[in-house]
Amino acid sequence: MKVAVLGAAGGIGQALSLLLKTQLPAGSDLALYDVAPVVPGVAVDLSHIPTAVTVKGYGADDLSAALTGADIVIIPAGMPRKPGMDRADLFNVNAGIIKTLAEGIVANCPKALVGVITNPVNGTVPIVAEVFKKAGTYEANRVFGVTTLDVIRSEAFIAELKGLNVSDVKVPVIGGHSGTTILPLLSQVEGVTFSDDEVASLTPRIQNAGTEVVNAKAGGGSATLSMGAAAARFTLSLVKGLKGESVVDYAYVSVENGDAAYFAHPVRLGKNGVEEILPYGDLSAFEQQAKEDMLATLNKDIQEGIDFING
Ligand code: 2OP
Repeated sequence: MKVAVLGAAGGIGQALSLLLKTQLPAGSDLALYDVAPVVPGVAVDLSHIPTAVTVKGYGADDLSAALTGADIVIIPAGMPRKPGMDRADLFNVNAGIIKTLAEGIVANCPKALVGVITNPVNGTVPIVAEVFKKAGTYEANRVFGVTTLDVIRSEAFIAELKGLNVSDVKVPVIGGHSGTTILPLLSQVEGVTFSDDEVASLTPRIQNAGTEVVNAKAGGGSATLSMGAAAARFTLSLVKGLKGESVVDYAYVSVENGDAAYFAHPVRLGKNGVEEILPYGDLSAFEQQAKEDMLATLNKDIQEGIDFING
């Protein structure tokens, strides 16, 4: 199994690479690519951790070598938010970065499963898909927006609020990965009930959790450590799927006849990435309304990504 991390020297990339070095199955190869000159050093640093995972660093000119033979490509590359910025404010900078990286995937590992972290995820996932479509290599089941951070935040916040063992808390989160487009389905959390007041305060807390980190870091960036943990968890789900295990996880994927062209759903993962898009079940009246209210924003974000390649 070869996993390539594009943007491996950044805050998310380093945390993710550390977790993958310690958690990927024995015999895996980890390829760390970044335009930042520190990337060979990050690779050397990680290579001193005694696990049966090889690590190699690739600099700005080595994208092809980093990607050749990759089974999974995870992309945290790009600019993070500063206080006062919305994820959509990152579009102009990050759209070009993600386009270049997607073109590299087309040229070097068109069959890889691709997990996109680069914000705004609502728009960068359609960019990757459009680049692949233009090249004739698009398979919708291989492209994912990583929304696992919304899931793990929901787990952490609910366990804290209700005094539960966090490993018992499972929270479906659907929609997109930005503000109101993030829709935690609190009505479906097994064994837990929420008052209307709790739903009305917990839902926006989950939706704005990224901003909570951006503000707390006061100009020093956005979530890196929790995002690294989330991305590692999702990558390991992809690995299990590729190895033939049936795994269900949440991700922002292309859906036919769904709420929007891309929407986070529970998906069954397997050897080809998404094996099946599962239904997200019944929504409460609150969730139904929240979903209807956010679709215009999500559709606009998606269209911006599509237009960036085709406009
Ligand atoms: C977040 O949700 C970085 O988008 C990421 O904090």
